[in-house]
Amino acid sequence: MKRRDALANIVSIRGLIMLLPKMSKAKEMIFKNSSCKKHGKPKALVIYASEYGSTEGVARAIAKVLCDDGKSVELMRVQDVMSLDGYEHVIVGSPIQYDAWMDEAKEFVDKYEKQLSLIKVDYFFTCLTLSQKSDKARKQAQQYADGLMQINTHVVPRYIGQFAGVLDYSKFSFSFRILAHVMFAVLGVKEGDYREWSAIKEWSNKIKG
Ligand SMILES: Cc1cc2nc3c(=O)[nH]c(=O)nc-3n(C[C@H](O)[C@H](O)[C@H](O)COP(=O)(O)O)c2cc1C
Repeated sequence: MKRRDALANIVSIRGLIMLLPKMSKAKEMIFKNSSCKKHGKPKALVIYASEYGSTEGVARAIAKVLCDDGKSVELMRVQDVMSLDGYEHVIVGSPIQYDAWMDEAKEFVDKYEKQLSLIKVDYFFTCLTLSQKSDKARKQAQQYADGLMQINTHVVPRYIGQFAGVLDYSKFSFSFRILAHVMFAVLGVKEGDYREWSAIKEWSNKIKG
């Protein structure tokens, strides 16, 4: 067994990342809401939490597929949602941090539980576990998905998209970068953009119906 595999078995990405302190991690990021409004067309809302921007990119790609399909689509950060009135489909996404969605995404589901329980809802997440193509990684990602089902049992997503995300040290604050370098090096996750746009598009086509 390779040294890296052995290490990965002993200390999972899960265990190690849990060690990362909840410190200020991100350099300041700017997120842009956007929309393709079409009068009289079914309204969909794609919302996301994101610390470093990669999940925003995934959300944007999903919104584009729905827009190209003729829907009236709005894309916004989860913090910017004021109301769900009029939407017939809501897609919620977040990176996995410390084994779970970011708090703001979970809080959104709780806050709008009643409305979400009445309309089409899909979830997605990005994570670095899926940068590795092993059964172990797939099982771990499935555990993340199972965890999302428990956020609020009144809200039942039809599908949960599981996507590999991004590791970009330049986006981290200086102090967090040092720590993250150590953690991800031990896990054997190299810096890179692991998003698979064809898989994201395929999933978007699945949920557009
Ligand atoms: C503080 C922190 C905790 C993380 N925790 C996990 C984790 O538990 N499991 C995992 O697979 N990836 C984890 N990741 C990787 C992120 O999910 C991944 O980098 C994602 O693409 C980041 O999305 P964003 O650019 O939208 O913030 C973590 C990243 C950070 C910075």
